[in-house]
Amino acid sequence: MGYSLSKLKEDTICILIFASKLRPGILRKLLCLYKKSDQLLKSGRFGEGLWPLHPASGQFIHWLIRFHGLTRGLEVGAGIGFSTAWIVSALLSPPCKGVEGSLVSLEYFLPKVKQWEKHMRLLFGEGYEKTVTMIPSSFELWLRNAGRKKFDFVFFDQRKEDYLAHLKLLLPRLKKGAFIVADNVISHAKFCQDYLDFVKKDRRFRSVTLDIGQGIEVSQFS
Ligand SMILES: C[S@@+](CC[C@H](N)C(=O)[O-])C[C@H]1O[C@@H](n2cnc3c(N)ncnc32)[C@H](O)[C@@H]1O
Repeated sequence: MGYSLSKLKEDTICILIFASKLRPGILRKLLCLYKKSDQLLKSGRFGEGLWPLHPASGQFIHWLIRFHGLTRGLEVGAGIGFSTAWIVSALLSPPCKGVEGSLVSLEYFLPKVKQWEKHMRLLFGEGYEKTVTMIPSSFELWLRNAGRKKFDFVFFDQRKEDYLAHLKLLLPRLKKGAFIVADNVISHAKFCQDYLDFVKKDRRFRSVTLDIGQGIEVSQFS
């Protein structure tokens, strides 16, 4: 696409976000789930935190996927499904060049996986598995058996200290022009500084830090 990532300004992003056209029914249900997330956390079933993707970051990701017609997604750290919901709703919008979108979601904490499945059913109905596949395992284990599949969109929300190691392992699986979005790069900058230095310095990436939500790093691979 003929646009420069580094020239994206926040006001432009806001305009684009409002043009992202998330289906109102899904948006309503999703915002309702955000409101209930505190209650879910208090149940004590999900460990220390749920850490849902900030809705502003979710809307940006939704727009990015639609605008670039991205169709092959990978998500590391799916939690109970907030980020998944933003990604899947974008992949479900009219397919790019007739190609149906698909997402592989990784989450290794099984109580969260169960809740993730409930949320997908609630938001997208029983047919959600046509678009998104949950792999209830760690990134490292999945990678050993992942075959040759390549991705044009990757979302990172696992342990921030692992971002760089995981990105390096994924390099052979990135399509030319693939986007990698990493969450919490402002809120947890000290844990992923090595990742930020890498994507900003390595010539294969064009990368920009966006001050929306908890801070997201948007990097394009060439
Ligand atoms: C910040 S939370 C994810 C929140 C989720 N993206 C959302 O928006 O709802 C991070 C999750 O990553 C999972 N996780 C951490 N390291 C992982 C790994 N190496 N492989 C798979 N899942 C991982 C944790 O169990 C945790 O649920």
